[in-house]
Amino acid sequence: MASELFLGAMSGTSLDGLDIALCDFSSTNILKASHFTPFPQELRQALFDLCHTDNIPLNDLYQTEQRYSRFCANAINAFLKQESINPSDLAALGLHGQTIRHEPNLSPAFTVQLGDWSLVAAETQITTIGDFRRKDVALGGQGAPLVPPFHKAIFSSTSSSRVIVNIGGISNVTILMPAAEPLGYDCGPGNALLDYWFARHHEGTFDTNGDWAKSGEINSTLLQRLLNDPFFMLPAPKSTGRELFNPEWLHSRLDDATVSLEPEEIQATLTELTAQSIAIAVKNHLNTGEVYVCGGGWKNQFLVERLKQALGESYTLASTEALGIHSDWVEACAFAWLAANTLHRQDSQQASTTGASRNAVLGGIYYP
Ligand SMILES: Nc1ncnc2c1ncn2[C@@H]1O[C@H](COP(=O)(O)OP(=O)(O)OP(=O)(O)O)[C@@H](O)[C@H]1O
Ligand SMILES: [Mg+2]
Repeated sequence: MASELFLGAMSGTSLDGLDIALCDFSSTNILKASHFTPFPQELRQALFDLCHTDNIPLNDLYQTEQRYSRFCANAINAFLKQESINPSDLAALGLHGQTIRHEPNLSPAFTVQLGDWSLVAAETQITTIGDFRRKDVALGGQGAPLVPPFHKAIFSSTSSSRVIVNIGGISNVTILMPAAEPLGYDCGPGNALLDYWFARHHEGTFDTNGDWAKSGEINSTLLQRLLNDPFFMLPAPKSTGRELFNPEWLHSRLDDATVSLEPEEIQATLTELTAQSIAIAVKNHLNTGEVYVCGGGWKNQFLVERLKQALGESYTLASTEALGIHSDWVEACAFAWLAANTLHRQDSQQASTTGASRNAVLGGIYYP
């Protein structure tokens, strides 16, 4: 029988590095092994610059794509060696690529994930599947989030309503009600603004446990100003990214009234913004239910505390580990699942989430 082992590899909007997950979808415990490889600082900075610069020289763009792709191939090869896996043991690799622009509402709409999937296939000797989002955008969809059908397949219950919240650079929610199509959308910033504000005032890239934020007071004037952004009121389908929730967005809302705030008060308020925007999304759909969190945001204890508070007592809160997949690896598993669909020419049931005109087989297949 042909191998049913898939790799999923994800690098998200936090620009922290590459998550790799080895998945067996014929097993009840689908996650077999995993590894995180941080971006070297130079690559992280180059990717950050591509996300935030308007006039990019083509050589910079394509050379960064090559560096990113080689980084991915090397990380995957090191993982295979560590786990004693031969490329021939694997059916395929789903590699998301690095989003540097996501503009599904411009006309014409587009989304750009960097990634030379040919190079990765050649370097790893694994059938590599990537470029998942553009087919959905071509069909009039947001191109994101693509994970809700995976959440439905793996995490849904026939008796209770569940919400899966992924807190990456951006946060997204998936609402799973028994016997219904999943609903899902990006609900606001996740860690990206927290990381930015932290790095502006400290060495290091993120606010470990949310300790710094916890030392400051939440400022309700600033919080309200941030929550007044029309994005939070938009109906689904909707998706967002660093195009909206970026340093300029934050600075344009810090004026005379807030300039006297201590930096940790702003960090506390940004943490509350992430918590509140998730809670607003959850409460929009369910009066009660089970909420499960994945993504790096679960490690921010202060953020989790604030989310629990914002949700109130009608909801239970836990990490996706309670449903069988550790919170760090859900996104990478999702891209292994999307790759499995594509390899089998099955559509990925994304249209009800993204607003595309139909479900579709997503992405392209690159043979070694
Ligand atoms: N110990 C920790 N304490 C607080 N925050 C943490 C901790 N560990 C990780 N994080 C946060 O999690 C982020 C990484 O999360 P994650 O990898 O889920 O984001 P991502 O790569 O943008 O994912 P995606 O876009 O796929 O959802 C870091 O940038 C950081 O903000
Ligand atoms: Mg990440």
